[in-house]
Amino acid sequence: MSPSSTPEDDIWSEWLLHRRHADDPQWEPAAQQRIERCADRVLDNAHLAPGMRLLDVGTGDGLVGLRAIARIGFTLQVQMTGVSARMLRHTGQRAAELGVRRQCRFLHCGADRLEGVGDETVDVVTTRAVLTYVANKKRALREFLRVLKPGGRISLCEPIFQDDALSTRALKTLLDSRPTDALHPFMPLLHRWKAAQYPDTAEKIRKSPIANYSERDLVRVAQGAGFAELHLELHIDVIPSPIPNWEAFLNSSPHPLAPPPSIILAEQFSVEERYLFESVMRPLIEDPRSLTTERTAYLTARKPTC
Ligand SMILES: C[S@@+](CC[C@H](N)C(=O)[O-])C[C@H]1O[C@@H](n2cnc3c(N)ncnc32)[C@H](O)[C@@H]1O
Repeated sequence: MSPSSTPEDDIWSEWLLHRRHADDPQWEPAAQQRIERCADRVLDNAHLAPGMRLLDVGTGDGLVGLRAIARIGFTLQVQMTGVSARMLRHTGQRAAELGVRRQCRFLHCGADRLEGVGDETVDVVTTRAVLTYVANKKRALREFLRVLKPGGRISLCEPIFQDDALSTRALKTLLDSRPTDALHPFMPLLHRWKAAQYPDTAEKIRKSPIANYSERDLVRVAQGAGFAELHLELHIDVIPSPIPNWEAFLNSSPHPLAPPPSIILAEQFSVEERYLFESVMRPLIEDPRSLTTERTAYLTARKPTC
């Protein structure tokens, strides 16, 4: 593990440890419960057994990797990778506190270049919310295939952000097609906020790793990399918004690459625009009937035995 952190690291540690739930004492446990359910589904699909070797790519705070050890016990060996040295140190510390450090190995590397992981050395590869940030998903899937033993499995879970980008693009198309005074003055502000968090043109979507793929592309890329017996489930959950209050909204963001509204408002809005934005958005955020949509793809596949 590299001892140093780079500013890039901070995107991941800042989001994972603080910004995903805005450090809100009400939101944090609810958010944790929700992602633990996803991790459990990844582990159910992984079919782990005692004595296996697991590679958890982009482990973050060890959500999947450490949970796998809790599930299987002391015979499971887990390699955990990530691009954030800070998160790897944090997770190493967690493993030590849990008394499982000697079952863990931490590797500072990208998903598409699994340096230090030998060919055909692991039984299962897991990821949760990682591939979405990887520009070259095809190369990552090929790396997963390389390190897996014949017959080994992948169990992945990735958010699907394409619809969020497409609705942001639709908003831009609407704004571009009408004279400014024909629209409510809130509409350009809505677009400015959304466009700071998601790509809003066809060209930007094409270039964005988080938006330029759908769940079907995940299947296609995994199949193209050489996997067999593929199975994908798309979960679309329309649920009560988990954001508990206006402060939490301002200081959170939907993914690590998105700035929080507090920064967008400070950098891109005038005082009058901030006032208008809050007057429309705050009642919506604080309305307990507000809903949000989450799209999540669960993919499993096997490395052929011959
Ligand atoms: C949203 S977090 C998810 C963390 C963890 N898997 C979880 O389920 O909580 C994204 C993680 O992906 C890692 N990551 C980002 N880009 C990566 C890349 N190119 N290769 C490997 N890991 C990456 C980050 O270090 C971060 O830990």
